[in-house]
Amino acid sequence: MASKSRSSSTARGRSKHADAIGLLKTDHRQVEAWFAQFSRTKNQQKKRQLADHICDALTVHATIEEEVFYPAFIEATGDKDTHHEAVVEHAGAKKLIAEIQAMSPDDDYYDAMVTVLAEMIKHHVKEEEQPGGMFSEAKKSDMDLQVLGEQLLARKQELQATAKAA
Ligand SMILES: [Fe+2]
Repeated sequence: MASKSRSSSTARGRSKHADAIGLLKTDHRQVEAWFAQFSRTKNQQKKRQLADHICDALTVHATIEEEVFYPAFIEATGDKDTHHEAVVEHAGAKKLIAEIQAMSPDDDYYDAMVTVLAEMIKHHVKEEEQPGGMFSEAKKSDMDLQVLGEQLLARKQELQATAKAA
């Protein structure tokens, strides 16, 4: 008999995983740290590496939010204003990410593009995390943040595995 050590469905209710808000906030802190490193380093290769990490992580983050968290948010709260604004901000960020990914780090505008992306993300994160923002609204709603956290994590791991295999 093969012993499978899958815990996600059996450990529900006592999950060791972060809930949805915890998981999304951890992503935010990680990307902020990379942006800070980017602004400090003069090394072009390091900049390229950090920008790659940032773009990849933000792409996964935006995707799991759009596929899992945002639909659950609008269903539970009916708050179209907050939801739609977040979706539009994601679209703007994704456009900039695609441009950065297509760019050479030697391009004169490379650093400026990454800096503008940092500012966009800073604004977006603030809107999500501030008092009365999307996350605090989600906490007050009847969204099951524990289950959503598991779904976000599962989808995140799937996307990361696909990116690695590509
Ligand atoms: Fe977002």
